[in-house]
Amino acid sequence: MNWMLRLQEKLWGIAPWDARQITDEWFRAHFEYASDVVHHWVGGVLDLPKARLLNFGCGDGITDLSLVLRHGATAIHGVDIRQEYAKLPRIAREQLGMSRIPAALTFETIAPGTPLAGRRPLVDGIMSWSTFEHVQRDQLLPILKDLHACLRPGGFFFIQIEPLFYSPYGSHLRRYDEVPWHHLLVSEDELWEIVRTHEGPIDAAETDFGFADFGPEGYKRFVFNEYRALNRLTADELVALTAEAGFHVVRQERRNVQMEIPAELHGKYPQDWLLNNEIFLLLGR
Ligand SMILES: C[S@@+](CC[C@H](N)C(=O)[O-])C[C@H]1O[C@@H](n2cnc3c(N)ncnc32)[C@H](O)[C@@H]1O
Repeated sequence: MNWMLRLQEKLWGIAPWDARQITDEWFRAHFEYASDVVHHWVGGVLDLPKARLLNFGCGDGITDLSLVLRHGATAIHGVDIRQEYAKLPRIAREQLGMSRIPAALTFETIAPGTPLAGRRPLVDGIMSWSTFEHVQRDQLLPILKDLHACLRPGGFFFIQIEPLFYSPYGSHLRRYDEVPWHHLLVSEDELWEIVRTHEGPIDAAETDFGFADFGPEGYKRFVFNEYRALNRLTADELVALTAEAGFHVVRQERRNVQMEIPAELHGKYPQDWLLNNEIFLLLGR
């Protein structure tokens, strides 16, 4: 398929697109915010028009599309254990009026933990957005070592995680439950009851394109299973694992919430775990 896109693009150039057509808030959050943040962190250290990039946990590929259209990237390979990216041509048509996605984008479905190193040329940069909190804990180090082996010496790896597990909405269930730290305060059964009995619309910016496939009730089950599978990684653990895999920290930023910690949680978890909801980590090889 990609050779067809390349040929069409050679003949007619990148298909026209128009961001004024965007109506979907999930799309907007990735096309604008996520891609701008990645560009801010990665665009400063790599020449995006020349860089070969890998997106680990690319999801639906909207961020990758934006990196090409708005930030000049020319080669991004997205990998994921799901196949949400298969929807990208339709999404790009609906949200941007784009008739075909750029040939700069390629995607691949992998089984969790499948080694990637050695199968393709080394990349200049790797990014991973809201993915590492979902990776099975025992696969974290092997995957990080594999990504290290995919990156050329002197290359960069950008990781973002939000929300971190112990932060107020670290359950990733906020679309159904606004009570901060609720996942640390009530049992799993109680939490599921809250999700199960939730009625009414959910935040559009947190509703991905999988929602339509699952339907409202199926989506609740999907999101709750995702919650149960979270690896509960803290920012310190992430940094330590990346060091063990051979990376060094180039720059990092940790964001904290300013909220009152419930009395029940005092002494149960370190305060910095409870308040730290986001990490941006730029690593070097
Ligand atoms: C919250 S989504 C984020 C997707 C995308 N980065 C975005 O911003 O929309 C997390 C993604 O990580 C993927 N994922 C989870 N475990 C993975 C693994 N072991 N290898 C590759 N992708 C994985 C999931 O399938 C999912 O698409």
